[in-house]
Amino acid sequence: MVGPPGSGKSMLAARLPSILPPLSAAELLEVSMIHSIAGQLSGGRLSDRRPYRTPHHSATMAALVGGGLRARPGEASLAHHGVLFLDEFPEFAPQVLDALRQPLETAECIIARANHRVSYPAAIQLVAAMNPCRCGMAGEPGHSCARGPRCQSDYQARISGPLMDRIDIRIDVPAVSAADLIRPRAAETSSAVAERVARARSMQRERFAAAGLPQVGTNARCSTALIEKLAEPDAGGLQLVRDAAEKMKFSARGYHRVLKVARTLADLDESAIVGRIHLAEAISYRIAGERLTAAA
Ligand SMILES: Nc1ncnc2c1ncn2[C@@H]1O[C@H](COP(=O)(O)OP(=O)(O)OP(=O)(O)O)[C@@H](O)[C@H]1O
Ligand SMILES: [Mg+2]
Ligand SMILES: [Zn+2]
Repeated sequence: MVGPPGSGKSMLAARLPSILPPLSAAELLEVSMIHSIAGQLSGGRLSDRRPYRTPHHSATMAALVGGGLRARPGEASLAHHGVLFLDEFPEFAPQVLDALRQPLETAECIIARANHRVSYPAAIQLVAAMNPCRCGMAGEPGHSCARGPRCQSDYQARISGPLMDRIDIRIDVPAVSAADLIRPRAAETSSAVAERVARARSMQRERFAAAGLPQVGTNARCSTALIEKLAEPDAGGLQLVRDAAEKMKFSARGYHRVLKVARTLADLDESAIVGRIHLAEAISYRIAGERLTAAA
């Protein structure tokens, strides 16, 4: 999420757990084991709420992906089956952020030692928030950065290309005026959204169970070969993806991730086929970041 100060990025992220389905019994067991190893199982109480971890931007690599004297699990593993929220994303040390690249791909953190290695699971949903530039206001109407256009490009360059490539949904969070808040608006409640999410997730579970892959569970964890089959676009959709991939220079990873997001959007619509409309939305989420960088 990219937006100016006070636009509600941290607030949105904090609400995310309220729309996620509870942990299954098997997931709860895995989560509890990791928290127990880390000495974080307070009083032995178990909760089926998905983990929501918010490490500070001063976190070290060991704190984030695990390590230290006793090879303890890091925040990424403590967030297993849940959300890892990194607020003020560019303020994290670049090499600490890049240590997340491998876990984001393989869903596990590996701690290598001289003569052995430890691996902890880390199937996480990474959520990150940032201002568009260091002064926070780049791109806002009527604002011009004291340091000029470099302000935005230098700040955003702190997130490496390969890490950015792993972020599937990029959204601009525009400023909300006080006047907007005063006007009452009919909004869907979190519990109504949570029901939709739960339905989409159960469709995904059934789909992967039917394919003989019950361990996959969500579109995000699906293999590239399988997602090409499951999210096969119709002719219109295929043309759209081709054009976008060419213009926006998607990586191979980017292409498969667009398919996964589109499959999920179709699931939320309870639609068996992935239509052009789902692909268009998925593509728009991937290119939002590029738009920002291009504007800089
Ligand atoms: N859409 C909104 N609806 C209701 N309240 C909002 C909204 N956006 C912001 N606010 C109010 O503004 C406060 C600040 O929002 P928040 O801390 O999430 O901003 P932020 O985008 O994280 O800013 P920063 O970049 O400074 O960290 C919230 O606690 C809330 O009171
Ligand atoms: Mg904030
Ligand atoms: Zn600036």
